[in-house]
Amino acid sequence: MLIVGLNAYHGDVAAAVLRDGQLVAALEEERFSRIKHVAGFPAQAIARGLAMAGATPADVDVWAIARGRRVHLLRKAWFALTHRPGTALMGQYRNTVDKQGSIPDVIARTFMLDPARINTRYVEHHPAHLASAFYTSGMSDAACCAIDGFGDFVSVSMAHGHAGSLDVIDRVYFPHSLGLLYLAITQYLGFKKYGDEYKVMGLAPYGKPSHTAAISKLVRLENHGRFTLDLDYFRHWTGEISMSWDSGEPTVPDVYTNGLIDLLGPARTADEPVTSYHEDLATSVQRVFEDAAFHVLRGLHARIPSTALCLAGGCAMNSVANGKIRRHTPFTEVFIQPAAGDNGTALGAALEAWHSTGQRQHQPRMSHSYWGTEYDDAAIARVIDDSGVVNQRRCSWQTLEDEAALCRETATLIAGGNIVGWFQGRMEWGARALGNRSILADPRRSDMRDVINQKIKFRERFRPFAPSVLAEAIDEYFIDAVHDPFMIQVYPVRPEKRDTIPAVTHVDGSGRLQSVSRETNARYWALIRAFQAQTGVPVLLNTSFNENEPIVERPEQALDCFLRTDMDVLVMGQHLLRKPR
Ligand SMILES: [Fe+2]
Repeated sequence: MLIVGLNAYHGDVAAAVLRDGQLVAALEEERFSRIKHVAGFPAQAIARGLAMAGATPADVDVWAIARGRRVHLLRKAWFALTHRPGTALMGQYRNTVDKQGSIPDVIARTFMLDPARINTRYVEHHPAHLASAFYTSGMSDAACCAIDGFGDFVSVSMAHGHAGSLDVIDRVYFPHSLGLLYLAITQYLGFKKYGDEYKVMGLAPYGKPSHTAAISKLVRLENHGRFTLDLDYFRHWTGEISMSWDSGEPTVPDVYTNGLIDLLGPARTADEPVTSYHEDLATSVQRVFEDAAFHVLRGLHARIPSTALCLAGGCAMNSVANGKIRRHTPFTEVFIQPAAGDNGTALGAALEAWHSTGQRQHQPRMSHSYWGTEYDDAAIARVIDDSGVVNQRRCSWQTLEDEAALCRETATLIAGGNIVGWFQGRMEWGARALGNRSILADPRRSDMRDVINQKIKFRERFRPFAPSVLAEAIDEYFIDAVHDPFMIQVYPVRPEKRDTIPAVTHVDGSGRLQSVSRETNARYWALIRAFQAQTGVPVLLNTSFNENEPIVERPEQALDCFLRTDMDVLVMGQHLLRKPR
Protein backbone atom coordinates (compact mmCIF):
# COMPACT_ATOMS: atom_id res chain seq x y z
CA MET A 1 0.00 0.00 0.00
CA LEU A 2 1.41 3.36 -1.06
CA ILE A 3 0.42 6.33 1.11
CA VAL A 4 1.35 9.96 0.56
CA GLY A 5 0.89 12.21 3.58
CA LEU A 6 0.74 15.91 2.98
CA ASN A 7 0.64 19.18 4.83
CA ALA A 8 -0.89 21.75 2.48
CA TYR A 9 -2.12 25.35 2.75
CA HIS A 10 -0.37 25.82 6.08
CA GLY A 11 3.19 26.88 6.96
CA ASP A 12 6.05 24.47 6.15
CA VAL A 13 4.12 22.40 3.62
CA ALA A 14 5.61 18.95 3.13
CA ALA A 15 5.07 15.41 1.90
CA ALA A 16 5.88 11.96 3.27
CA VAL A 17 5.74 8.67 1.36
CA LEU A 18 5.04 5.36 3.08
CA ARG A 19 5.18 2.00 1.38
CA ASP A 20 3.47 -0.75 3.41
CA GLY A 21 3.89 1.34 6.53
CA GLN A 22 7.60 1.95 6.03
CA LEU A 23 8.83 5.49 5.55
CA VAL A 24 10.49 5.92 2.15
CA ALA A 25 10.83 9.70 1.84
CA ALA A 26 9.92 12.85 3.73
CA LEU A 27 10.51 16.27 2.22
CA GLU A 28 9.72 19.92 2.81
CA GLU A 29 8.56 21.97 -0.14
CA GLU A 30 10.72 24.97 0.88
CA ARG A 31 13.86 23.10 -0.22
CA PHE A 32 12.49 22.99 -3.78
CA SER A 33 10.57 26.27 -3.97
CA ARG A 34 13.51 28.07 -2.26
CA ILE A 35 11.04 30.05 -0.13
CA LYS A 36 11.42 29.57 3.64
CA HIS A 37 8.43 27.95 5.41
CA VAL A 38 6.57 28.08 2.10
CA ALA A 39 2.78 27.64 2.23
CA GLY A 40 0.49 26.40 -0.56
CA PHE A 41 0.56 22.93 -2.09
CA PRO A 42 3.71 20.73 -1.82
CA ALA A 43 3.74 19.62 -5.46
CA GLN A 44 7.51 19.22 -5.80
CA ALA A 45 7.92 17.45 -2.46
CA ILE A 46 5.24 14.95 -3.51
CA ALA A 47 6.74 14.40 -6.96
CA ARG A 48 10.28 13.93 -5.63
CA GLY A 49 9.15 11.67 -2.80
CA LEU A 50 7.20 9.43 -5.17
CA ALA A 51 10.14 9.30 -7.59
CA MET A 52 12.33 8.13 -4.71
CA ALA A 53 9.78 5.39 -4.05
CA GLY A 54 9.95 4.38 -7.72
CA ALA A 55 6.29 5.29 -8.08
CA THR A 56 4.06 7.80 -9.85
CA PRO A 57 1.08 9.78 -8.53
CA ALA A 58 -1.22 7.28 -10.24
CA ASP A 59 0.17 4.53 -7.99
CA VAL A 60 -0.87 6.22 -4.74
CA ASP A 61 -3.46 4.23 -2.79
CA VAL A 62 -4.22 6.84 -0.14
CA TRP A 63 -3.61 10.60 -0.06
CA ALA A 64 -3.52 11.39 3.67
CA ILE A 65 -4.25 15.08 4.18
CA ALA A 66 -3.27 16.65 7.49
CA ARG A 67 -6.48 18.59 8.03
CA GLY A 68 -9.71 18.02 9.86
CA ARG A 69 -12.98 18.10 7.96
CA ARG A 70 -15.91 19.58 9.84
CA VAL A 71 -14.22 19.04 13.22
CA HIS A 72 -15.04 20.78 16.51
CA LEU A 73 -18.07 22.47 14.95
CA LEU A 74 -19.87 22.94 18.26
CA ARG A 75 -16.75 24.49 19.77
CA LYS A 76 -16.42 26.86 16.86
CA ALA A 77 -20.10 27.85 17.03
CA TRP A 78 -19.87 28.42 20.77
CA PHE A 79 -16.74 30.55 20.31
CA ALA A 80 -18.45 32.66 17.62
CA LEU A 81 -21.46 33.19 19.90
CA THR A 82 -19.50 34.07 23.02
CA HIS A 83 -16.61 36.07 21.53
CA ARG A 84 -18.27 37.60 18.45
CA PRO A 85 -15.13 37.74 16.30
CA GLY A 86 -15.09 40.08 13.28
CA THR A 87 -15.74 39.11 9.71
CA ALA A 88 -12.08 38.55 8.79
CA LEU A 89 -11.84 35.54 11.10
CA MET A 90 -15.01 34.01 9.68
CA GLY A 91 -13.74 34.74 6.15
CA GLN A 92 -10.48 33.04 6.98
CA TYR A 93 -12.35 30.06 8.38
CA ARG A 94 -14.48 29.79 5.23
CA ASN A 95 -11.34 30.04 3.10
CA THR A 96 -9.81 27.18 5.09
CA VAL A 97 -12.90 25.03 4.58
CA ASP A 98 -12.86 25.78 0.83
CA LYS A 99 -9.17 25.01 0.60
CA GLN A 100 -9.39 21.66 2.35
CA GLY A 101 -12.30 20.68 0.16
CA SER A 102 -10.33 21.58 -2.95
CA ILE A 103 -7.18 19.58 -2.15
CA PRO A 104 -8.31 16.47 -4.07
CA ASP A 105 -8.94 18.70 -7.11
CA VAL A 106 -5.51 20.26 -6.73
CA ILE A 107 -3.94 16.79 -6.56
CA ALA A 108 -5.87 15.73 -9.67
CA ARG A 109 -4.98 18.89 -11.58
CA THR A 110 -1.32 18.94 -10.56
CA PHE A 111 -0.64 15.30 -11.41
CA MET A 112 -3.22 14.90 -14.21
CA LEU A 113 -5.21 12.22 -12.41
CA ASP A 114 -8.86 11.26 -12.64
CA PRO A 115 -10.48 12.96 -9.60
CA ALA A 116 -12.80 10.00 -9.15
CA ARG A 117 -9.82 7.74 -8.52
CA ILE A 118 -8.23 9.85 -5.81
CA ASN A 119 -8.69 8.18 -2.46
CA THR A 120 -8.27 10.74 0.32
CA ARG A 121 -8.19 10.46 4.06
CA TYR A 122 -8.31 13.54 6.25
CA VAL A 123 -6.35 13.44 9.48
CA GLU A 124 -6.95 16.33 11.87
CA HIS A 125 -3.94 18.59 12.51
CA HIS A 126 -3.27 17.62 16.12
CA PRO A 127 -3.77 13.87 15.73
CA ALA A 128 -1.31 14.16 12.82
CA HIS A 129 1.22 15.86 15.13
CA LEU A 130 0.68 13.14 17.76
CA ALA A 131 1.02 10.34 15.19
CA SER A 132 4.24 11.85 13.84
CA ALA A 133 5.78 11.50 17.30
CA PHE A 134 4.31 8.27 18.66
CA TYR A 135 4.50 6.08 15.56
CA THR A 136 8.14 7.00 15.00
CA SER A 137 9.16 6.64 18.66
CA GLY A 138 9.55 2.88 18.72
CA MET A 139 7.63 2.98 22.01
CA SER A 140 4.72 0.63 22.66
CA ASP A 141 3.18 2.74 25.44
CA ALA A 142 3.68 6.46 26.04
CA ALA A 143 2.05 9.70 27.06
CA CYS A 144 1.83 11.89 23.96
CA CYS A 145 1.43 15.62 23.65
CA ALA A 146 1.20 18.17 20.84
CA ILE A 147 1.67 21.85 21.64
CA ASP A 148 1.61 24.49 18.91
CA GLY A 149 0.11 27.77 17.72
CA PHE A 150 -3.08 26.24 16.37
CA GLY A 151 -4.34 23.67 13.96
CA ASP A 152 -7.99 22.80 13.37
CA PHE A 153 -9.01 24.98 16.36
CA VAL A 154 -6.75 23.15 18.83
CA SER A 155 -3.45 24.26 20.41
CA VAL A 156 -2.70 21.43 22.86
CA SER A 157 -3.71 17.81 22.73
CA MET A 158 -2.88 15.15 25.24
CA ALA A 159 -3.09 11.50 24.29
CA HIS A 160 -2.26 7.97 25.32
CA GLY A 161 -0.32 6.04 22.73
CA HIS A 162 -0.58 2.29 23.18
CA ALA A 163 -0.99 -0.91 21.26
CA GLY A 164 -0.48 0.82 17.95
CA SER A 165 -3.14 3.49 18.41
CA LEU A 166 -3.62 6.93 19.92
CA ASP A 167 -6.45 8.01 22.20
CA VAL A 168 -6.80 11.76 22.66
CA ILE A 169 -7.86 12.43 26.26
CA ASP A 170 -7.89 16.23 26.43
CA ARG A 171 -7.43 19.38 24.37
CA VAL A 172 -6.93 23.12 24.75
CA TYR A 173 -8.94 24.96 22.13
CA PHE A 174 -8.62 28.24 20.21
CA PRO A 175 -8.04 31.04 21.17
CA HIS A 176 -5.82 29.81 24.04
CA SER A 177 -2.33 28.82 22.91
CA LEU A 178 1.24 28.74 24.23
CA GLY A 179 2.48 29.12 20.66
CA LEU A 180 0.58 32.41 20.41
CA LEU A 181 2.00 33.55 23.76
CA TYR A 182 5.55 33.09 22.43
CA LEU A 183 4.63 34.55 19.05
CA ALA A 184 3.19 37.73 20.62
CA ILE A 185 6.43 38.48 22.47
CA THR A 186 8.51 37.50 19.43
CA GLN A 187 6.65 40.04 17.31
CA TYR A 188 6.76 42.64 20.10
CA LEU A 189 10.57 42.20 20.12
CA GLY A 190 10.65 43.14 16.42
CA PHE A 191 11.11 39.65 14.94
CA LYS A 192 8.30 39.62 12.42
CA LYS A 193 9.01 36.76 10.07
CA TYR A 194 7.10 33.50 10.24
CA GLY A 195 9.12 31.12 12.40
CA ASP A 196 11.26 33.78 14.12
CA GLU A 197 10.57 32.40 17.60
CA TYR A 198 13.95 30.63 17.54
CA LYS A 199 15.65 34.03 17.57
CA VAL A 200 14.01 34.86 20.89
CA MET A 201 15.09 31.47 22.21
CA GLY A 202 18.66 32.30 21.14
CA LEU A 203 18.48 35.74 22.74
CA ALA A 204 17.01 34.49 26.04
CA PRO A 205 20.30 33.32 27.66
CA TYR A 206 21.70 36.87 27.50
CA GLY A 207 19.14 38.43 29.82
CA LYS A 208 17.63 38.17 33.28
CA PRO A 209 14.10 36.91 33.99
CA SER A 210 13.17 40.27 35.44
CA HIS A 211 9.87 40.60 33.56
CA THR A 212 8.53 37.13 34.30
CA ALA A 213 5.78 38.52 36.53
CA ALA A 214 4.61 40.94 33.83
CA ILE A 215 4.57 38.34 31.05
CA SER A 216 2.88 35.85 33.37
CA LYS A 217 -0.17 38.13 33.22
CA LEU A 218 -0.71 36.90 29.65
CA VAL A 219 -1.39 33.30 30.68
CA ARG A 220 -3.24 31.71 33.59
CA LEU A 221 -2.39 28.13 34.56
CA GLU A 222 -5.39 26.02 35.49
CA ASN A 223 -6.09 22.53 36.80
CA HIS A 224 -5.18 19.33 34.94
CA GLY A 225 -2.44 20.95 32.90
CA ARG A 226 -4.80 23.40 31.27
CA PHE A 227 -4.34 27.15 30.80
CA THR A 228 -6.05 30.21 29.34
CA LEU A 229 -4.67 33.36 27.74
CA ASP A 230 -5.75 36.79 28.93
CA LEU A 231 -7.33 37.80 25.62
CA ASP A 232 -6.98 41.51 26.39
CA TYR A 233 -3.36 41.15 25.23
CA PHE A 234 -4.13 39.28 21.99
CA ARG A 235 -5.78 40.07 18.66
CA HIS A 236 -5.64 36.73 16.86
CA TRP A 237 -9.18 35.85 17.91
CA THR A 238 -10.84 39.17 17.13
CA GLY A 239 -11.06 38.94 13.38
CA GLU A 240 -9.02 42.13 12.98
CA ILE A 241 -6.11 40.30 11.40
CA SER A 242 -5.91 37.59 8.80
CA MET A 243 -3.19 35.18 7.84
CA SER A 244 -2.61 33.72 4.41
CA TRP A 245 -1.53 30.17 3.65
CA ASP A 246 -2.27 30.07 -0.07
CA SER A 247 1.27 30.43 -1.41
CA GLY A 248 4.67 31.99 -0.74
CA GLU A 249 6.14 32.69 2.68
CA PRO A 250 3.43 32.80 5.35
CA THR A 251 2.87 36.18 6.95
CA VAL A 252 1.31 36.69 10.34
CA PRO A 253 0.26 40.21 11.37
CA ASP A 254 0.97 41.30 14.94
CA VAL A 255 -1.14 39.20 17.29
CA TYR A 256 -0.71 41.48 20.33
CA THR A 257 -2.86 44.45 21.36
CA ASN A 258 -2.02 47.84 22.80
CA GLY A 259 -2.57 46.14 26.15
CA LEU A 260 0.85 44.55 25.75
CA ILE A 261 2.41 47.93 25.00
CA ASP A 262 0.74 49.36 28.12
CA LEU A 263 2.24 46.47 30.06
CA LEU A 264 5.78 46.42 28.60
CA GLY A 265 6.29 49.78 26.91
CA PRO A 266 6.82 50.56 23.21
CA ALA A 267 7.53 47.56 21.00
CA ARG A 268 10.92 47.21 19.31
CA THR A 269 10.93 47.82 15.56
CA ALA A 270 12.92 45.46 13.34
CA ASP A 271 15.77 47.93 12.71
CA GLU A 272 16.22 49.11 16.32
CA PRO A 273 19.19 47.73 18.26
CA VAL A 274 18.56 44.87 20.65
CA THR A 275 19.05 46.23 24.17
CA SER A 276 19.40 44.57 27.55
CA TYR A 277 15.67 45.29 28.07
CA HIS A 278 14.88 43.14 25.04
CA GLU A 279 17.23 40.45 26.28
CA ASP A 280 15.45 40.44 29.65
CA LEU A 281 12.07 40.14 27.93
CA ALA A 282 13.34 37.19 25.87
CA THR A 283 14.60 35.50 29.05
CA SER A 284 11.28 36.17 30.73
CA VAL A 285 9.04 34.84 27.97
CA GLN A 286 11.21 31.73 27.70
CA ARG A 287 10.78 31.24 31.48
CA VAL A 288 7.00 31.77 31.36
CA PHE A 289 6.70 29.46 28.35
CA GLU A 290 8.73 26.73 30.05
CA ASP A 291 6.67 26.95 33.25
CA ALA A 292 3.45 26.67 31.25
CA ALA A 293 4.72 23.83 29.04
CA PHE A 294 5.93 21.82 32.06
CA HIS A 295 2.56 22.49 33.70
CA VAL A 296 0.86 20.97 30.63
CA LEU A 297 3.19 17.96 30.71
CA ARG A 298 2.72 17.39 34.45
CA GLY A 299 -1.04 17.52 33.87
CA LEU A 300 -0.64 14.92 31.14
CA HIS A 301 1.48 12.71 33.39
CA ALA A 302 -1.14 12.84 36.15
CA ARG A 303 -3.56 11.17 33.76
CA ILE A 304 -1.16 8.99 31.75
CA PRO A 305 1.44 8.05 34.37
CA SER A 306 3.99 6.73 31.90
CA THR A 307 7.67 7.55 32.18
CA ALA A 308 7.83 7.97 28.40
CA LEU A 309 6.77 11.10 26.51
CA CYS A 310 6.32 11.65 22.77
CA LEU A 311 6.16 15.34 21.98
CA ALA A 312 5.28 17.25 18.79
CA GLY A 313 3.94 20.58 17.54
CA GLY A 314 5.70 23.85 16.79
CA CYS A 315 6.40 24.40 20.51
CA ALA A 316 8.38 21.15 20.55
CA MET A 317 10.94 23.02 18.42
CA ASN A 318 11.84 24.93 21.59
CA SER A 319 14.99 22.91 22.17
CA VAL A 320 15.88 24.84 25.34
CA ALA A 321 12.62 23.79 27.01
CA ASN A 322 12.93 20.26 25.61
CA GLY A 323 16.30 19.76 27.30
CA LYS A 324 14.75 20.55 30.69
CA ILE A 325 11.70 18.26 30.47
CA ARG A 326 13.36 15.37 32.30
CA ARG A 327 14.40 17.69 35.14
CA HIS A 328 11.04 19.45 35.54
CA THR A 329 8.47 16.71 34.91
CA PRO A 330 8.16 13.03 35.89
CA PHE A 331 8.99 11.90 32.34
CA THR A 332 12.36 10.16 32.12
CA GLU A 333 12.35 9.39 28.39
CA VAL A 334 11.46 12.00 25.77
CA PHE A 335 11.10 11.39 22.04
CA ILE A 336 10.72 14.21 19.50
CA GLN A 337 11.07 13.49 15.79
CA PRO A 338 13.04 16.05 13.76
CA ALA A 339 10.07 17.66 11.99
CA ALA A 340 8.12 18.50 15.14
CA GLY A 341 6.55 21.57 13.48
CA ASP A 342 3.77 21.58 10.91
CA ASN A 343 6.02 19.91 8.32
CA GLY A 344 5.72 16.79 10.52
CA THR A 345 1.94 16.62 10.11
CA ALA A 346 2.55 15.25 6.58
CA LEU A 347 4.39 12.32 8.15
CA GLY A 348 1.81 12.00 10.94
CA ALA A 349 -1.12 11.96 8.51
CA ALA A 350 0.52 9.19 6.48
CA LEU A 351 1.30 7.13 9.59
CA GLU A 352 -2.20 7.62 11.01
CA ALA A 353 -3.71 6.54 7.68
CA TRP A 354 -1.55 3.40 7.71
CA HIS A 355 -2.35 2.52 11.32
CA SER A 356 -6.06 3.04 10.72
CA THR A 357 -6.02 0.27 8.12
CA GLY A 358 -5.68 -2.17 10.99
CA GLN A 359 -2.33 -3.42 9.72
CA ARG A 360 -0.65 -2.36 12.91
CA GLN A 361 2.86 -3.35 13.47
CA HIS A 362 5.49 -2.21 15.84
CA GLN A 363 7.78 0.19 14.09
CA PRO A 364 11.33 0.88 15.18
CA ARG A 365 12.36 4.28 16.48
CA MET A 366 13.28 6.80 13.80
CA SER A 367 17.02 6.92 14.30
CA HIS A 368 18.00 9.46 11.64
CA SER A 369 16.58 12.33 9.63
CA TYR A 370 18.00 11.46 6.21
CA TRP A 371 14.74 10.99 4.30
CA GLY A 372 15.34 13.52 1.53
CA THR A 373 16.88 13.65 -1.93
CA GLU A 374 20.44 12.62 -2.80
CA TYR A 375 22.88 13.06 -5.67
CA ASP A 376 25.62 10.60 -6.53
CA ASP A 377 29.28 11.41 -7.15
CA ALA A 378 28.86 11.34 -10.93
CA ALA A 379 26.03 13.88 -10.79
CA ILE A 380 28.08 16.10 -8.48
CA ALA A 381 31.09 15.86 -10.82
CA ARG A 382 28.93 16.98 -13.76
CA VAL A 383 27.70 20.00 -11.78
CA ILE A 384 31.27 21.00 -10.90
CA ASP A 385 32.42 20.44 -14.49
CA ASP A 386 29.59 22.46 -16.00
CA SER A 387 30.03 25.33 -13.55
CA GLY A 388 33.49 26.23 -14.76
CA VAL A 389 34.68 26.90 -11.19
CA VAL A 390 38.08 25.39 -11.86
CA ASN A 391 38.90 27.52 -14.90
CA GLN A 392 36.90 30.65 -14.25
CA ARG A 393 37.14 30.89 -10.45
CA ARG A 394 40.52 29.14 -10.12
CA CYS A 395 39.17 26.69 -7.53
CA SER A 396 41.18 23.52 -7.03
CA TRP A 397 39.25 20.26 -7.44
CA GLN A 398 40.34 17.05 -5.81
CA THR A 399 38.54 13.71 -5.90
CA LEU A 400 39.23 11.45 -2.91
CA GLU A 401 37.82 8.01 -3.48
CA ASP A 402 38.93 6.67 -0.13
CA GLU A 403 36.50 7.80 2.60
CA ALA A 404 39.15 7.77 5.32
CA ALA A 405 41.37 10.04 3.20
CA LEU A 406 38.44 12.36 2.45
CA CYS A 407 37.60 12.67 6.15
CA ARG A 408 41.25 13.09 7.13
CA GLU A 409 41.80 15.86 4.59
CA THR A 410 38.54 17.64 5.51
CA ALA A 411 39.33 17.40 9.24
CA THR A 412 42.77 18.93 8.60
CA LEU A 413 41.16 21.81 6.72
CA ILE A 414 38.64 22.41 9.52
CA ALA A 415 41.35 22.26 12.18
CA GLY A 416 43.30 24.77 10.10
CA GLY A 417 40.51 27.32 10.51
CA ASN A 418 38.72 26.80 7.17
CA ILE A 419 34.95 26.98 6.92
CA VAL A 420 33.77 23.89 5.05
CA GLY A 421 30.53 23.23 3.18
CA TRP A 422 29.67 19.56 3.64
CA PHE A 423 27.14 18.11 1.18
CA GLN A 424 26.64 14.35 1.51
CA GLY A 425 24.01 11.65 1.02
CA ARG A 426 20.31 12.19 1.60
CA MET A 427 18.99 15.59 2.65
CA GLU A 428 17.70 16.04 6.18
CA TRP A 429 13.99 15.98 7.08
CA GLY A 430 13.13 18.78 9.53
CA ALA A 431 14.54 22.22 10.21
CA ARG A 432 18.04 21.15 11.23
CA ALA A 433 21.05 20.36 9.08
CA LEU A 434 22.48 17.23 10.63
CA GLY A 435 25.67 16.51 8.79
CA ASN A 436 24.46 16.03 5.21
CA ARG A 437 23.70 19.66 4.24
CA SER A 438 25.91 21.41 6.82
CA ILE A 439 28.54 24.10 7.11
CA LEU A 440 31.28 22.91 9.45
CA ALA A 441 33.99 24.68 11.40
CA ASP A 442 36.39 24.32 14.32
CA PRO A 443 34.48 24.62 17.64
CA ARG A 444 37.73 25.32 19.55
CA ARG A 445 38.16 28.80 18.11
CA SER A 446 36.43 31.44 20.22
CA ASP A 447 36.23 33.80 17.23
CA MET A 448 34.60 31.25 14.93
CA ARG A 449 31.04 32.40 15.61
CA ASP A 450 31.90 35.94 14.49
CA VAL A 451 33.97 34.66 11.57
CA ILE A 452 31.05 32.60 10.21
CA ASN A 453 28.61 35.42 10.78
CA GLN A 454 30.82 37.85 8.90
CA LYS A 455 31.81 35.52 6.08
CA ILE A 456 28.69 33.52 5.45
CA LYS A 457 25.58 33.87 7.53
CA PHE A 458 25.16 37.61 8.04
CA ARG A 459 22.83 36.97 10.95
CA GLU A 460 22.18 38.28 14.46
CA ARG A 461 25.26 38.14 16.69
CA PHE A 462 23.35 36.54 19.55
CA ARG A 463 22.32 33.37 17.75
CA PRO A 464 24.38 30.36 18.83
CA PHE A 465 26.01 27.72 16.65
CA ALA A 466 25.49 24.10 17.53
CA PRO A 467 27.85 21.23 18.26
CA SER A 468 27.85 17.83 16.54
CA VAL A 469 29.44 15.44 19.01
CA LEU A 470 30.36 11.78 18.71
CA ALA A 471 27.69 9.72 20.49
CA GLU A 472 30.48 8.08 22.49
CA ALA A 473 31.54 11.44 23.95
CA ILE A 474 28.20 12.94 25.05
CA ASP A 475 28.85 12.48 28.77
CA GLU A 476 32.37 13.76 28.49
CA TYR A 477 31.14 17.11 27.17
CA PHE A 478 27.52 17.58 28.38
CA ILE A 479 25.65 17.29 31.67
CA ASP A 480 22.68 14.93 31.89
CA ALA A 481 22.36 14.70 28.11
CA VAL A 482 21.04 11.71 26.19
CA HIS A 483 21.66 10.57 22.63
CA ASP A 484 19.84 13.03 20.37
CA PRO A 485 20.46 12.61 16.65
CA PHE A 486 18.02 15.44 15.85
CA MET A 487 19.60 18.44 17.66
CA ILE A 488 16.32 19.18 19.40
CA GLN A 489 17.36 19.35 23.06
CA VAL A 490 19.74 21.82 24.69
CA TYR A 491 21.95 20.74 27.59
CA PRO A 492 24.64 22.36 29.74
CA VAL A 493 28.19 21.95 28.45
CA ARG A 494 30.40 20.64 31.28
CA PRO A 495 32.07 23.68 32.87
CA GLU A 496 35.53 22.18 32.36
CA LYS A 497 34.84 21.78 28.62
CA ARG A 498 33.45 25.24 27.89
CA ASP A 499 36.85 26.67 27.06
CA THR A 500 37.58 23.68 24.83
CA ILE A 501 34.58 24.31 22.55
CA PRO A 502 33.79 28.03 22.96
CA ALA A 503 32.34 28.49 19.45
CA VAL A 504 29.45 26.12 20.24
CA THR A 505 28.96 27.01 23.91
CA HIS A 506 26.19 29.57 24.30
CA VAL A 507 26.57 32.52 26.66
CA ASP A 508 24.80 30.60 29.45
CA GLY A 509 27.07 27.57 29.03
CA SER A 510 24.58 25.50 27.06
CA GLY A 511 24.80 23.71 23.73
CA ARG A 512 22.16 22.37 21.32
CA LEU A 513 23.90 19.13 20.63
CA GLN A 514 23.52 16.63 17.83
CA SER A 515 24.96 13.28 18.82
CA VAL A 516 26.39 11.41 15.85
CA SER A 517 26.62 7.64 15.79
CA ARG A 518 28.37 5.42 13.29
CA GLU A 519 25.13 3.49 12.65
CA THR A 520 23.12 6.50 11.51
CA ASN A 521 25.67 8.62 9.63
CA ALA A 522 28.88 6.69 9.05
CA ARG A 523 30.62 9.35 6.97
CA TYR A 524 29.86 12.25 9.31
CA TRP A 525 30.89 10.09 12.28
CA ALA A 526 34.16 9.27 10.50
CA LEU A 527 34.80 12.96 9.84
CA ILE A 528 34.31 13.95 13.50
CA ARG A 529 36.44 10.97 14.49
CA ALA A 530 39.20 12.18 12.14
CA PHE A 531 38.93 15.66 13.68
CA GLN A 532 39.25 14.08 17.12
CA ALA A 533 42.33 12.12 16.01
CA GLN A 534 44.02 15.37 15.00
CA THR A 535 42.82 17.67 17.80
CA GLY A 536 41.64 15.50 20.68
CA VAL A 537 38.17 17.08 20.42
CA PRO A 538 35.27 14.88 19.18
CA VAL A 539 33.09 17.88 18.31
CA LEU A 540 32.45 20.00 15.21
CA LEU A 541 30.59 23.28 14.84
CA ASN A 542 27.60 22.49 12.61
CA THR A 543 25.32 25.08 11.06
CA SER A 544 22.88 24.69 8.21
CA PHE A 545 24.18 24.92 4.65
CA ASN A 546 22.48 28.10 3.48
CA GLU A 547 22.76 31.84 3.44
CA ASN A 548 19.51 33.64 4.08
CA GLU A 549 17.54 30.95 2.18
CA PRO A 550 16.23 27.44 2.83
CA ILE A 551 18.91 24.77 3.35
CA VAL A 552 20.51 23.77 0.02
CA GLU A 553 18.94 20.77 -1.66
CA ARG A 554 21.02 20.14 -4.79
CA PRO A 555 24.73 20.40 -5.67
CA GLU A 556 24.13 23.49 -7.83
CA GLN A 557 22.71 25.35 -4.82
CA ALA A 558 25.59 24.22 -2.60
CA LEU A 559 28.11 25.39 -5.19
CA ASP A 560 26.30 28.71 -5.62
CA CYS A 561 26.28 29.30 -1.82
CA PHE A 562 30.00 28.36 -1.68
CA LEU A 563 30.85 30.88 -4.41
CA ARG A 564 28.76 33.81 -3.23
CA THR A 565 29.96 33.61 0.39
CA ASP A 566 33.46 33.47 1.87
CA MET A 567 33.27 29.74 2.53
CA ASP A 568 36.77 28.30 2.06
CA VAL A 569 36.15 24.70 1.09
CA LEU A 570 33.28 22.68 -0.37
CA VAL A 571 33.12 18.91 0.02
CA MET A 572 30.35 17.25 -2.01
CA GLY A 573 30.39 13.48 -1.97
CA GLN A 574 34.02 12.59 -2.61
CA HIS A 575 34.77 15.86 -4.40
CA LEU A 576 36.72 18.55 -2.59
CA LEU A 577 36.84 22.13 -3.92
CA ARG A 578 39.06 24.87 -2.51
CA LYS A 579 38.97 28.53 -3.30
CA PRO A 580 42.27 30.11 -4.34
CA ARG A 581 44.14 31.73 -1.46
FE1 LIG B 1 0.79 22.62 14.31
